[in-house]
Amino acid sequence: MAELDAGALGARAEHMIKTLASISAEPNRLVRTFLSPQHRDAADLISKWMDEFGLDVSEDALGTVRGHWGGSGKKRLLIGSHIDTVIDAGMFDGPFGVIGGILAAGHFAKAGRKMPFGIDVLAFADEEGARYPVTLHSSLAAAGAFTITSLEVADADGVTLREAITRFGKNVDDIPAAAYSREEAAAYVEVHIEQGPVLEHRNQPLGVVSSIAGQTHLNVELLGEAGHAGTVPMLLRRDALAGAAEAILLAERLARDTRGEVVATVGHLNIPAAASNVIAGNVALIVDIRSGSDQARLQFVERFKAEIRAIAEKRHLGLLVTTTRDVAMTPCDPVLQDGFAASVTALGGLPLRLASGAGHDGTAMAKLCPIGMLFVRCRGGISHNPAEYASPADMGMAIAALIKFIEGFKP
Ligand code: GLV
Ligand code: MN
Ligand code: MN
Repeated sequence: MAELDAGALGARAEHMIKTLASISAEPNRLVRTFLSPQHRDAADLISKWMDEFGLDVSEDALGTVRGHWGGSGKKRLLIGSHIDTVIDAGMFDGPFGVIGGILAAGHFAKAGRKMPFGIDVLAFADEEGARYPVTLHSSLAAAGAFTITSLEVADADGVTLREAITRFGKNVDDIPAAAYSREEAAAYVEVHIEQGPVLEHRNQPLGVVSSIAGQTHLNVELLGEAGHAGTVPMLLRRDALAGAAEAILLAERLARDTRGEVVATVGHLNIPAAASNVIAGNVALIVDIRSGSDQARLQFVERFKAEIRAIAEKRHLGLLVTTTRDVAMTPCDPVLQDGFAASVTALGGLPLRLASGAGHDGTAMAKLCPIGMLFVRCRGGISHNPAEYASPADMGMAIAALIKFIEGFKP
């Protein structure tokens, strides 16, 4: 086998990541949402790269690009991540995993080296949930777990998923054909930036993921009465935004009370008729709740619901709480973890194990097959922020570890 040049792999990855990051809906910040024109352009670039690296390229009904390198057996090792982004994103979250997968599969394809299993690199595009209130449709379709009712969810402009798929040039009737069979899918693995500070703190470039945190999204709508900011006395107001402020602080307080077991965030607040001189009549917010413990997460949800009800009653506000996401904690397969640990060790790293607080396509792919993940250190643990950064040296080591993992993989 040719010597692995991790430095060259990392430099190549960085160049490709920067090229992909030039595809954005906005000139001054990175925005690439599911089934948007930028998703189309990014998918075309990924297809071109996969082809150049010797992979057979196809695309499914949700726009997931697939690059296949055939093996001698029927089984396939699936390697993926996502090319959609949050609003004002960094360039590494998702793209590094797709590009790392292309470079790793390309390592085998370029050498004409067949393994006893095929390799499929998957570029999903619905991991961030920036467009639709429910998410992971791309990986759910690949896992054969796409639910047809999802087609009716709408984005902020009222465009349903069904319409968006059609506008993207795809046919919703083809979604079932996106599914891998259980006989075919040997495992799903993903390399991703850590998005947290643990590896940097431990002075290690790589870490083996033990599990992916469970997640709940509560959509909280508060209904008061719109009014004039100058005339309605304070005690006669039914201010939905003041109620929302209490809801945000409630989520923060309840999460702090768990002493690290649960984290909760309100990062999305919608004031449909916002104006400085209008008492808000109607406000909606999303509470994002994560934990490695499903029990702790569900307890949090019950406490939040009870206390927000009391707040709404006290303020004479209407209240509607809808659960739009409820994903259990997903363990990573112990054998795949050991495979990544062995490849990290072979490269001179310490095979640290760590849980992922962030969500990943792996939670959907776990409905199909065992999953595994490898994290790479990112500067300051910063992510979902344009300052996100992983060094070419660390990325190169992660890709080299992925190649070693593939060499040792037994379906
Ligand atoms: C995706 O990055 C998520 O964890 O929300
Ligand atoms: Mn991600
Ligand atoms: Mn993300």
